Amino acid sequence: MRILMLGGNGFVGRAIVDDALAQGYEVTSFSRGKSGSPLPPGVTQLIGDRETGDYSALRTGEWDAVVDTSGFRTRDVDQAMDVLGDRVGRYVFISSHAVYVRDLPAGTDETAPRREPLRDADVLTNDTYGRCKVACEDDVVERYGDRATLVRPGRVTGPGDSSGTALYWIRRGARGGRVALPTKPEAPLQLVDSRDVAGLITRLVTDNRAGAYNAIGPDSTIAELIRTAAELSGSTVDIVPVPFDAVPRRFPLMDPEAEWGERRRNPAKARAAGMPVTPLRTTVADVLQWDHDRGTPPLTIGLTPEAEATLLTQHNLPG
Ligand SMILES: NC(=O)c1ccc[n+]([C@@H]2O[C@H](COP(=O)([O-])OP(=O)(O)OC[C@H]3O[C@@H](n4cnc5c(N)ncnc54)[C@H](OP(=O)(O)O)[C@@H]3O)[C@@H](O)[C@H]2O)c1
Repeated sequence: MRILMLGGNGFVGRAIVDDALAQGYEVTSFSRGKSGSPLPPGVTQLIGDRETGDYSALRTGEWDAVVDTSGFRTRDVDQAMDVLGDRVGRYVFISSHAVYVRDLPAGTDETAPRREPLRDADVLTNDTYGRCKVACEDDVVERYGDRATLVRPGRVTGPGDSSGTALYWIRRGARGGRVALPTKPEAPLQLVDSRDVAGLITRLVTDNRAGAYNAIGPDSTIAELIRTAAELSGSTVDIVPVPFDAVPRRFPLMDPEAEWGERRRNPAKARAAGMPVTPLRTTVADVLQWDHDRGTPPLTIGLTPEAEATLLTQHNLPG
């Protein structure tokens, strides 16, 4: 099986590359060559830039499937599809759970209503990102039909996740002590391990499956994430709820309660297609190890220990 990765060196892309190599696939990666760590031996690296429309490195070659991890606006997918045409058997577009309308109840599946498509946006924000992915999905399905596959990950973490979003809480649990939590401890999560997203994608490619798949992880809660990291690190934590508005907007993994249905989606279709499910404990242990190995660089999101202590004191909660 020959697979072309658009973005094989990114966080999720690299997990897919590793899984594809383990399946014995021949792997080619196309990107600017800026992100992540060097690709493993045996992967052919092609350099180009989707922002400037430089796809010249893709003018020749044939692949059984392309996996597009770096398409965000319709011009990205349209230009890639124009260049690749029928030289790829299947187009797997990595979309997002952000395609769905907000405020859905718990338990919805891939048939849930999507947001209004948006073909382009100067800046990808919380409001435009999901809508642009909807328009990309539509273009890919229109062009490839039964040869199109849409994968919609929820919040992804795992070794290599430098976004800091899940890592903030994993590190916070590992540090122990009184943890200021700007939500209820039972706030739901479905963090998905990047290696499980990768496992789903190679399965879908191998089995030549079309359609849309929610790639989401096991049901857990924010308190379980924090306590798991504490236990694995030999720490103890005391979780102290603080007001939601006591921390900056878009605080890591915090969403208003009205949007919690987004964290209880139905994973049945992807699981039936063979998606693996790494236990949360394994994911957290592997993220801690990866973070330790890279020297735990400072995070630019979340609260510093000093700011957290001040917050706890302000709310009459000793830090
Ligand atoms: N991470 C999550 O929680 C999450 C959740 C849902 C959906 N997703 C989706 O999953 C996909 C991958 O996300 P990620 O977190 O793995 O992203 P990432 O780590 O930022 O990787 C982005 C990849 O795209 C390549 N790229 C960026 N700009 C490019 C350009 N102008 N031309 C060519 N290649 C370019 C990068 O390589 P170079 O820098 O070398 O060009 C890299 O390989 C995205 O489509 C994202 O929307 C992610």
